[in-house]
Amino acid sequence: MIGGTKKCIGLIFGGHSNEHEVSISSAKTVFQAFNSEINKQCFTVKAFYINKLGDWLDNDLSEKILSGEIENNATKKLEIFSQEKINFLDGIEFQNIDVWFPLLHGFNGEDGSIHGLLRFTNKPLVGCGIIGSALGMDKIMMRTIFSSLKLPQVNYLVFQNKDLNDKKVKNKLISEILKKLNFPIFVKPSNSGSSLGISKVKNESEILQALEKAREIDPRILVEEGLEVREIECGIIGNSKLLTSEIGEVKYKSDWYDYDSKYFSDNEITIPAELDSKITKQIKDIAIQSCRALNIYSFARVDFFLEKSSNKILLNEINTIPGFTKKSMFPMLWEASGLNIEQLVAKLVEISLNS
Ligand SMILES: Nc1ncnc2c1ncn2[C@@H]1O[C@H](COP(=O)(O)OP(=O)(O)O)[C@@H](O)[C@H]1O
Ligand SMILES: [Mg+2]
Repeated sequence: MIGGTKKCIGLIFGGHSNEHEVSISSAKTVFQAFNSEINKQCFTVKAFYINKLGDWLDNDLSEKILSGEIENNATKKLEIFSQEKINFLDGIEFQNIDVWFPLLHGFNGEDGSIHGLLRFTNKPLVGCGIIGSALGMDKIMMRTIFSSLKLPQVNYLVFQNKDLNDKKVKNKLISEILKKLNFPIFVKPSNSGSSLGISKVKNESEILQALEKAREIDPRILVEEGLEVREIECGIIGNSKLLTSEIGEVKYKSDWYDYDSKYFSDNEITIPAELDSKITKQIKDIAIQSCRALNIYSFARVDFFLEKSSNKILLNEINTIPGFTKKSMFPMLWEASGLNIEQLVAKLVEISLNS
C-alpha cells in the first residue's frame, strides 16, 4: 500500500472528443485493474464520466456507464454538471480523491485542458503537465520542436488557417506540396487522434478533398511525405528518470493504420519487435529524448516509423494518454516488460505521488 492508507483514484473518462468511445473502453480496463483482488486492498475508485456534450456525471451514474447499465448516448438528462454553469468544479465531489487518473483521449482532455482544470483541485494526477500534454497533442508544434533538435522525421509542410475557398491560395498551396513532397502524402489535422481526419493521398486530384477533411477537425494542417514503413511503438513511464518498455511492432492488413484498423480488426502485434539491438537502443534513446523535449513524463507511448527500404528510424508522434483498452499496445508493452496491467496502474499512481 502506498503511504499506508488506501488511495482514492478519480478516474475521468468519456469526454467531449472524437475519441469518446475509445476512452470508455480504456476506462473499463483501468477500472477493472484497480478493482482487481490485488489492487482492491490499496485503492478505491471514483468514476467521473463526461458525456459527449462535456457534462460531468456523478460516480453512481459513471459506474453504470462502465458496467454497461446505461448507454453513453442517453445521459444528457442525467447530467449533474452542465457547461452552462460558471463554477466549473461546483457539484463535483472530489474532496476525497487522492490522485486523478484522466483517461480522456484527444481534445478537451489529452491536449492539456483536463490537466489545467485539475490543477485547481490541488491533487496529483497520473499524466504529464499542461505543456507536455498540449505539445504532444499538436502535431505541428511537436514536429517543429523535434526539427529544432534535429530528431529524425519524415519531410513535412505546415499550412495554418489557409482559406481553401480562395482559388489563388488553394493553387499556391497545391503547387508547394507538388514541388516539395513526393506522393503518396498524408494530410493530417494538427490536433486529432486515432487517425481521424487523416487521408493518404496518392495523386494531385485528391489533395483538395483531403485538405477539406482535415480542416473540418482543425484549420491547422500538416502534410507529410508518406513512406513505406514498419510501425514501431515504445512505452515510457517515470518522472525524473524515464523508463522505456520493450519495443512493439504492429502489422495490419489495411494500407495504413486508419481508424478501422486500429479498433475493428485483428492486428498482429509483436513484442519485442524483431529489430537488431543497435536500432532498439536508438529507438529507446530517441523515445526518452523526445519526451524530454516536450516535457512529457508520467506515462506516454512514443510511435516511430522504420522505413522499410533504408531501415531508417523516424519519430512519428507521442501520445500522452495512450489507449488502455484490452487490445491497446501500451499495456501490452508493459506486460512484456514485466508489469501486468494491475501492477502498471499501481505504478503510475506511485509515480504521480512522487512527482
Ligand atoms: N508520413 C507517413 N508515412 C507513412 N505512413 C503514415 C505517415 N503518416 C501517417 N501514416 C499512417 O497514418 C497513421 C496515423 O498517423 P498519425 O500521425 O500517427 O496520427 P494519429 O495521431 O491519429 O495516430 C500512422 O500510424 C501510419 O499508418
Ligand atoms: Mg498515431
